[in-house]
Amino acid sequence: MPVNPDVADSAFLRAARREPVPHTPVWFMRQAGRSLPEYRRVRAGVPMLQACRTPDLITEITLQPVRRYGVDAAILFSDIVVPLQAVGVDLDIKPGVGPVIARPVRSSADLEQLRPLDEGDVGFVVDAIEALTSELGATPLIGFAGAPFTLASYLVEGGPSRNHEQTKALMYGAPDLWDELMRRLATMQATWLRVQVEAGASAVQLFDSWVGVLPAEDYQRYVMPHSAEVLAALGGTGVPRIHFGVGTGELLALMGEAGADVVGVDFRVPLDEAARRVGPDRALQGNLDPAALFAPWEVVARRTRAVLKAGAAAPGHIFNLGHGVIPETDPDMLARVVDLVHEEGLA
Ligand code: CP3
Repeated sequence: MPVNPDVADSAFLRAARREPVPHTPVWFMRQAGRSLPEYRRVRAGVPMLQACRTPDLITEITLQPVRRYGVDAAILFSDIVVPLQAVGVDLDIKPGVGPVIARPVRSSADLEQLRPLDEGDVGFVVDAIEALTSELGATPLIGFAGAPFTLASYLVEGGPSRNHEQTKALMYGAPDLWDELMRRLATMQATWLRVQVEAGASAVQLFDSWVGVLPAEDYQRYVMPHSAEVLAALGGTGVPRIHFGVGTGELLALMGEAGADVVGVDFRVPLDEAARRVGPDRALQGNLDPAALFAPWEVVARRTRAVLKAGAAAPGHIFNLGHGVIPETDPDMLARVVDLVHEEGLA
C-alpha cells in the first residue's frame, strides 16, 4: 500500500480510477531499458537476470527514467521470467533474443518445474520496492507480471516464437495439460503481484504480450479464465490493474472483462475506437507507435496530439506507447513527448 498519501492523488492513479486529472499522465513501457546511456553504464558486465535479483540495481534502474523524463509513474525494473527462475526453472535471458528455457514444458512430467512461488523466493524484490517507495515520494510505482499465456508460450516453445506452433499444439491437442499449466502459472503470478503490492507497488500491469496470436473464441476458452484468476486475486488490494497485449484489437472487450481497471491498447487501434470496444467502465492506456519516434519531431508531435485527442473519448486516459520503447530510441524524443503530453493533455 502507498506509504505517501500524495501517491493516491497522483494524476496516474486518478486517471486509472477514471477521475478528473490536472494533466494526462504519461509513462512508457520499457522506459527503464537500453535506450538510456545511464542504464547501459550500470548494467555493464552484469547479466540481466542477476541485475533483476540485486535490490540496489533494481532501485537505481527503476528511478533513472523518472529522473530523466519526469514521467508520472515508475515501473519496477524486472522481467516477466523472474518468478519462473525464482521457483527453479532453468532459464536465461539472451541479449537480442529474449528468454530461453533449458527444458521446455511439453508433458505433465515437465510441469514439476513449476512449484508454487513463496514470498521468500523473491525477497530481493520486496527490498527493492521498500527502498523505491521512499525514494519515489508522490510518484506511483507499477508492479508487473507476465500473463499466463505469454509465460506459457515461452515455457512451451523454449524461447521466443513467431508462430507459437508448439503452444497451440499443446493448447488444442492436450487441453487438460494446458489447463494445469495455466492454473499453475496463474497462481504463481497472483502471488508475485501480491508480493509487489504488499511491498508498496500502487498499481499492477499484466503483460499478455503475445496473446494477439489467438482468435477471440480461443482466448475465451483457453486463456481468459486464467488471466481473470490473476486479476481477481488482486481485487481485494484496491490497486488499479492494467491489462495489456499486442495485436489485441479483436480481444480488447474480453481483456477488459477479464477484470482490468485499465486496458492497454497497442498502436493498431485508435483510442476512440478502443473506447467503443472496451466500454465506459474502464480507462485506456496507450498508444503512440514506438517506431514513429524515429520520425522527425513535427511528425511525433502531430501523432502525440492525435493520441491525446482520441484518448479524450475514453473515461480515463494514461498516455503510453503502443508497445515497449525500442532500444535505439533517442531519449530526447521521449523527453519531448512527456513535455508535450503534460502541456497539452488537459482532460
Ligand atoms: O518497462 C520497463 O522498463 C520495466 C522492465 C521490463 C523488462 N522486461 C526489462 C527488460 C518489463 C516490464 C519487461 C517485460 C517483458 N519481458 C515482456 C512484456 C513486455 C513486452 O515488451 O511485451 C516480455 C515479453 C519480456 C521478455 C523479454 N525480456 C524480452 C522479449 C526481452 C528482450 C530481449 C532482447 O534483448 O531483445 C527481455 C530482456 C529485457 N527485459 C531487457 C530489459 C531491460 C533487455 C535486457 C538487457 O538490457 O540486457
